[in-house]
Amino acid sequence: MDLTPILAKRRSVRRFKPVPIPPEDLEKLLFALQRAPTDASAQLYSVLRVRDPALREAIARLSGDQEHVRQAAEFFLFLADVHRLERLLLHRGQKMASWPRTALHFGVLDAGLSAAYLALTAEALGYGVCFIGGVLNEPEALLDLLRLPPGVFPVVGLALGVPDEEGPPRPRLPRHLVVHEDRYRPYTEEDLEAAFQAMAPYSRVGDWGRVLKRYFAQGGAMEAREAPYGRALARQGLEPDLPQGSPYYSLGSLIETALKEARGVLFRQGEAWLEREAEAFRGEGRPGEALVEALKKARGEVPDWP
Ligand SMILES: Cc1cc2nc3c(=O)[nH]c(=O)nc-3n(C[C@H](O)[C@H](O)[C@H](O)COP(=O)(O)O)c2cc1C
Repeated sequence: MDLTPILAKRRSVRRFKPVPIPPEDLEKLLFALQRAPTDASAQLYSVLRVRDPALREAIARLSGDQEHVRQAAEFFLFLADVHRLERLLLHRGQKMASWPRTALHFGVLDAGLSAAYLALTAEALGYGVCFIGGVLNEPEALLDLLRLPPGVFPVVGLALGVPDEEGPPRPRLPRHLVVHEDRYRPYTEEDLEAAFQAMAPYSRVGDWGRVLKRYFAQGGAMEAREAPYGRALARQGLEPDLPQGSPYYSLGSLIETALKEARGVLFRQGEAWLEREAEAFRGEGRPGEALVEALKKARGEVPDWP
């Protein structure tokens, strides 16, 4: 079957009719999400089909108060998930190795592919969908709300329903700026201008640059997500340089915090020292772990040596 006509007219839908999805279509959608390929057959993802209206409301609020998250007939939250894999290994007496960065990479990819398979199947059936990256606006609150175990991390939401809006497909970058042949081609100033021109209809005022600025420039939405994202990763055990559950978003931010409270930080093999005038606090372990411990001692949160 040629999917081109479906792809040619598809667009994200943000207004839905208050109509439920019939069970036979829902079955097709749930089937589709599991037919996506996954790295090494591991299926490093899970999906939450959010049915509880109170939960849906809470997720809508945490995702930037997006009305279409509330309105959609169905809402799915796609999760990167190495928790199940760890359980499977343990079930056969194996201990999972530590590979948090790779876990996140393939978990996010598996979750994203699964979401895309569901989304495309839905669009082929005539439904409208909208991916919701807003679920990463407040990831720590989302972890609390959903009580996700370590190794599980929200990737993206998907709102789905019968469309109650129409419109033309939205623009894309010129193909030659996206598809390189054999070697990555450096961009010229003309290429960049062509990009802004092609994407201009995306913005109501005809300036895609404003959209990019709002999200990606200094002071934009993505920058604001960075620290909570890093803290949430550490909390879920997916940040290799920090102990699971520590409230820092990177080893660098931990060192900066420590330096605000001390004169210096000293690392040695297997330990870290936090120095203040006339006293020093020692933590043990890898740098992040050792420094977190030293900082807790300096703050009096855990007892120092006798
Ligand atoms: C990962 C991802 C996150 C997104 N997050 C949101 C979102 O939070 N809210 C929203 O209304 N649209 C969201 N979108 C939809 C995009 O804005 C949309 O795909 C893009 O503007 C292109 O428009 P089109 O899908 O109609 O072609 C997201 C899309 C993706 C792939």
